[in-house]
Amino acid sequence: MEKRPDTMERITTKELAQAFIAEQVEAIKAQVGNKKVLLALSGGVDSSVVAALLIKAIGQNLVCVHVNHGLLRKGEPEQVIEVFKNQMKANLIYIDATDRFLDKLAGVAEPEKKRKIIGEEFIRVFEEEARKQSGIDFLAQGTIYPDILESGPVKAHHNVGGLPEDIHFEGLVEPIKFLFKDEVRVVGKELGLPDNMVYRQPFPGPGLGVRCTGAITRERLNLVRESDAILREEFAKAGLEGKVWQYFTIVPDCKSVGIKNNLRAVENFCVIRAVNTKDAMTATIEEIPYAVLGKIVNRIVTEVPGINRVLYDITPKPTGTIEWE
Ligand code: XMP
Repeated sequence: MEKRPDTMERITTKELAQAFIAEQVEAIKAQVGNKKVLLALSGGVDSSVVAALLIKAIGQNLVCVHVNHGLLRKGEPEQVIEVFKNQMKANLIYIDATDRFLDKLAGVAEPEKKRKIIGEEFIRVFEEEARKQSGIDFLAQGTIYPDILESGPVKAHHNVGGLPEDIHFEGLVEPIKFLFKDEVRVVGKELGLPDNMVYRQPFPGPGLGVRCTGAITRERLNLVRESDAILREEFAKAGLEGKVWQYFTIVPDCKSVGIKNNLRAVENFCVIRAVNTKDAMTATIEEIPYAVLGKIVNRIVTEVPGINRVLYDITPKPTGTIEWE
């Protein structure tokens, strides 16, 4: 296992972040020279920080690939394009692979099977794109120190991503591999990334796919995406963004009867989950003020056609996991 150098100071200030950035920019230049580097850019904080560092170091010689698997949150692909292509002028390839993923997932209800399909398909799409690009010698990755330290149960079980296995790269570029998450955020802020990217809550690789339980349908996926967007908006307005580790909605594969426009209607319901944790192994429930919950419920049932009921899951982990599948 690679070890963080004992002499490495923890990056807690702007000055230390600046020094780290300068040092890494030089290191990247020395490692790759004028060769090209490929990066799978998800828009999560780790890959975004790696992208920003590489853009600073090698500009157009970085080729970023953003794969939209159709399971991203509302506004996410648009933000990746806005920040990296429009603002930072990165060499960004955007692939909307929604149909491809959803077709593969059609009728698949078993959670681990869903994860496997999403993970494998992701690698396939990325590999195909890598093959189209000629003359790429290096692969960049947003590995961080906990990824190296923990090969524990959460990671082993959950990491569905992975690397193209049968494409040969001259080397790996992993500029943040000795950083902890809080340090990555300090560096990201200093690189000028937007706050909602730098401080964003953890988001699972299979995305909304594990929050649309059972066999995913486009209709129910849309209900998850829209209800999640409302929840995030209201949490931000209530100042809860930085206080709660993870908050999202789930739309189970199940319906209940309700009344809309004076008529009984059988529709889906959504579940709110908002938890705090240090290591994701155990989690506690954040107490959300009733007024905030009331507003969220009201907005979801009026603004999201197809949802007639909202539930709030107040089960800690254990026994409930953070995600529903
Ligand atoms: P659970 O549901 O096991 O989740 O309490 C613990 C943490 O892991 C995240 N999670 C995942 N992350 N791929 C990921 O990259 C996955 O398949 C996956 N499943 C769960 C979850 O969001 C929580 O932060």
